[in-house]
Amino acid sequence: MLEGGRSQVHAEAMRAEELRGKAMKCRDLRSDLDVSAAELGNLLELARHVKQFPNLYREALEGRYISLLFEKPSLRTRLTFELAAKQLGGDAVTVVGPIGDREPLKDVARNLDRWTHGIVARVFWQQTIEDLAHYANVPVINALSDLYHPCQALADAQTMLEHLGTLRGKKLCYLGDGNNVAHSLGLTVSRLGMDFVIAAPAGYEPRGEVWQSVQQLAEEHRVAAQVTTRPEEALEGADVVYTDVWASMGLEHETVQRRIDFKDFTVTEALMARANPGAIFMHCLPAHRDEEVTDAVMESPQSVVFDQAENRLHAQKALLLSLLGGA
Ligand code: CP
Ligand code: NVA
Repeated sequence: MLEGGRSQVHAEAMRAEELRGKAMKCRDLRSDLDVSAAELGNLLELARHVKQFPNLYREALEGRYISLLFEKPSLRTRLTFELAAKQLGGDAVTVVGPIGDREPLKDVARNLDRWTHGIVARVFWQQTIEDLAHYANVPVINALSDLYHPCQALADAQTMLEHLGTLRGKKLCYLGDGNNVAHSLGLTVSRLGMDFVIAAPAGYEPRGEVWQSVQQLAEEHRVAAQVTTRPEEALEGADVVYTDVWASMGLEHETVQRRIDFKDFTVTEALMARANPGAIFMHCLPAHRDEEVTDAVMESPQSVVFDQAENRLHAQKALLLSLLGGA
């Protein structure tokens, strides 16, 4: 029983209904941009409540099933979606391997939407997500593509809120490759009121069209969005220091060249000291120690990487509740 007894249980159950009732207009999560700034706030509040009171939601998706498709490896995304579906009273079925090799993608999409209530896909190309969303009637969630990793950004926002209290007026410094994780972070945190700076070696900046959207959102929300090649300067005043692998899945053949190009971008204790005192260190994982981050930083009290990993579960529960019509 909750502290405060039966009346508090009732109040929190009402709150759960209220939060689930704030339906999202979007049907899919193809990228972070499918969710409006207001919906993002609702999702984060629902994720916070689901984390605090998981039992209030344990039957919310009873009889609902999700298809999980993975063209690339996964530990966190796969397990947290499978667990989220089960802990909400539903279930998940998982397929690993290329999508659309054995039969056209449009046929795969229309098979899955006859059997399951949602499709979660990790793919090589964003176009695969777009095509799945076009042909399937059920919601499609992007579980990482070449361009975006919106589920990660959602869990990261939840983690930052837990550690920093409020995000407005805070600064996130991302060091490394201007990749899918960097794109989704930029699109998400600029709408939560954070200044965002990416320090990347020349040639590894974020993709032009995505960065344009980040800058537009930053302008709308009156925050800064910058790209630089100078890590030390980027870290000045940072409340969050974030990094990711230098060679994303599918780019392993570039690993040797990237180790050379990114050699000044390892997050070391010395670099962390350039950020604000008390700054937190974040990484979506998996981490490559002594490439993008040292073991000392990963294991330091500033590191919140396992809180991020935990919050994948809670944030994705909020997403499934919102998109699969659990209310
Ligand atoms: N961070 C993340 O998406 O982890 P996985 O690749 O293990 O799913
Ligand atoms: N940028 C990385 C993220 C892994 C979770 C990749 O795409 O491999």
